[in-house]
Amino acid sequence: MGNQLITEVVPHSLSHKRHKTHETKCVAKSFPPFVLFYGTIGDVHMTGLKPKILRFESLPSTNTELARMASEGADEGLSIVADEQTAGRGRLQRAWSSPKGAGLYFSILLRPAIPQEHWPLITFMAALAAGDALQEGAGVHTDIKWPNDLLSNERKICGILAEAIETPAGRAVVVGIGINLTQNAFPPELETVATSVSEASGRSPEREAILAALLRAVGRWYSLLHEPDGREKIVAAWSNRSSYATGRLVQVSNGDEVWQGTTSGVERDGALRLNTANGEIRLVRAGDVCSVRSSN
Ligand code: BTN
Repeated sequence: MGNQLITEVVPHSLSHKRHKTHETKCVAKSFPPFVLFYGTIGDVHMTGLKPKILRFESLPSTNTELARMASEGADEGLSIVADEQTAGRGRLQRAWSSPKGAGLYFSILLRPAIPQEHWPLITFMAALAAGDALQEGAGVHTDIKWPNDLLSNERKICGILAEAIETPAGRAVVVGIGINLTQNAFPPELETVATSVSEASGRSPEREAILAALLRAVGRWYSLLHEPDGREKIVAAWSNRSSYATGRLVQVSNGDEVWQGTTSGVERDGALRLNTANGEIRLVRAGDVCSVRSSN
């Protein structure tokens, strides 16, 4: 990618193994029919975004499938939901556990009409939208861990993977959002670090209500991103909703590099400011942030 500032909208390599939608592992549901709705959802008009949802029982990864469709000319707003993913992908080349029915596995194609140096805020926008969806669709309040993990009671409930792709119609972004609905079939290593809508709300999760709220929220925040003062508003809203934005002692790992420091806000491009123990200010644009408990 020429403008490599975008660290969290990561380049997507279409070298992932291709599969065809008619293959047995990749079954499009016959009901509801492919196209669920266009344009308006409930009473919220989605300026600019015309979501069209394709539903699948099983896919390797909704992001991979949507990137493939985008490379074949899919329009902005095309969204994919799968009941399970057999090769779900997370940030930093990790796998995303995606057992059948245990999560909302969702991807949406965006073709942002904003300068590319503003694209990192797409991940902030997605975190805000997913936070709204969890609040509106399930009554679950969340915290945001930089850049876009949603936490409930300090445990991860939602992850976001935004990938930049080259398509015949220009560079685009596939935003993938994974929300843990239940902990059924969670691998043991996730038990202490992850939570689910079911656990956080004490109720049976309503996937369709969360999905509808998510689409409305993506529409709202995406519209805002395109407004003249949208970036500032998105950074302000993100900072408001993140206990990691300021005054938090954290460790950041990026490959072999590890830094510790206290967070002191985010830059206009979404980079996290870190005051290190030796008085330096580091701008973090990639990596894994984790909270460090102070010893006193
Ligand atoms: C993270 O590591 O926190 C990001 C996880 C993103 C998971 C979602 S689930 C839907 C979409 N398809 C994928 O393969 N990944 C994203």
